[in-house]
Amino acid sequence: MKTIIFINRSTCTKCMLCTEVCPNKILLKNESNIITFDPEKVSLCFICGQCMAVCPAKSILVDGLSYEKDFFELPAYEPGGLESPFFDLIRTRRAIRNFQDKPVPQELLKKIVESIMLAPPGFPPVKTRIIVVQNSAVIRQSLPYMIRLYQKLLRRLKNPFIHYFIRQKVGVRRFRTMREHLVPLLKSRLPALKAGTEDTLTRNAPAMILFLADRNGEDISQDISIAATYGMLASHALGLGGSIMDIIPPAINKDKNLRRMFEIPHSQEVISSLIIGFPKYKYQRGIRRSLRSVRWL
Ligand SMILES: Cc1cc2nc3c(=O)[nH]c(=O)nc-3n(C[C@H](O)[C@H](O)[C@H](O)COP(=O)(O)O)c2cc1C
Repeated sequence: MKTIIFINRSTCTKCMLCTEVCPNKILLKNESNIITFDPEKVSLCFICGQCMAVCPAKSILVDGLSYEKDFFELPAYEPGGLESPFFDLIRTRRAIRNFQDKPVPQELLKKIVESIMLAPPGFPPVKTRIIVVQNSAVIRQSLPYMIRLYQKLLRRLKNPFIHYFIRQKVGVRRFRTMREHLVPLLKSRLPALKAGTEDTLTRNAPAMILFLADRNGEDISQDISIAATYGMLASHALGLGGSIMDIIPPAINKDKNLRRMFEIPHSQEVISSLIIGFPKYKYQRGIRRSLRSVRWL
């Protein structure tokens, strides 16, 4: 479907800001000195809203967007420079896997969802779906099914032929991660998981957000990683804590009981998960890490 762009010529000040920010250079100033759009390129408009967000006179209307519904007034924000509190936020964040036995109030979960909605999509509109699991009983009930599924996976991995099929399915890099991390971890933790003496899968989290994509849609795994990161940082800003958990989605995707429990239709798959709760322990120090390499050109 073609996007339609309306330009109110009576209010347009021809400041050109829309033409500057349009990522696909659809808007332009023509020979008659009016702002218009290139009809050849209008189908490239992915309705990112940048032209409407930047226009001082609200003179542009992209079909499907409205100033009232899709935009909000910006809060006063002064960048804090080198001492911005943002840096303390990311310095003090840790992956939290030990939680207080305390539910997460819904208003905090709503704020996390609001923050996730602010995450940028590669190509608007946003295609990410989420499920907010605020009922910890569902998470607890899911654990035995996850354990069973991972037991089955370990058994299957004893057969080297299966390695080939899994590698074909998940790709070489993901397979390497499975071999290097997942398998040794499962081998080590499954006995205690089975005995019910620990929960190294859902970590006894009181709440969890699942991030999903449509099976027949585009690859939005990077959108989802960023969205989950926004959720993780928002949790920390709210005095909660959590961790992205790569170990949870494959189990849910593969097990029909889990899909039913989390109410996931067949047309969707879980790409990422974020466990959330009030941290049980306080960390005394941050962790300094280096990148594998940093090159300046
Ligand atoms: C993409 C991603 C997936 C992760 N998956 C898991 C997981 O399945 N289980 C787990 O215990 N932690 C998981 N974590 C947490 C990391 O292990 C943790 O972030 C890492 O050890 C660094 O610790 P820090 O977050 O406290 O700096 C994941 C983190 C990321 C970013």
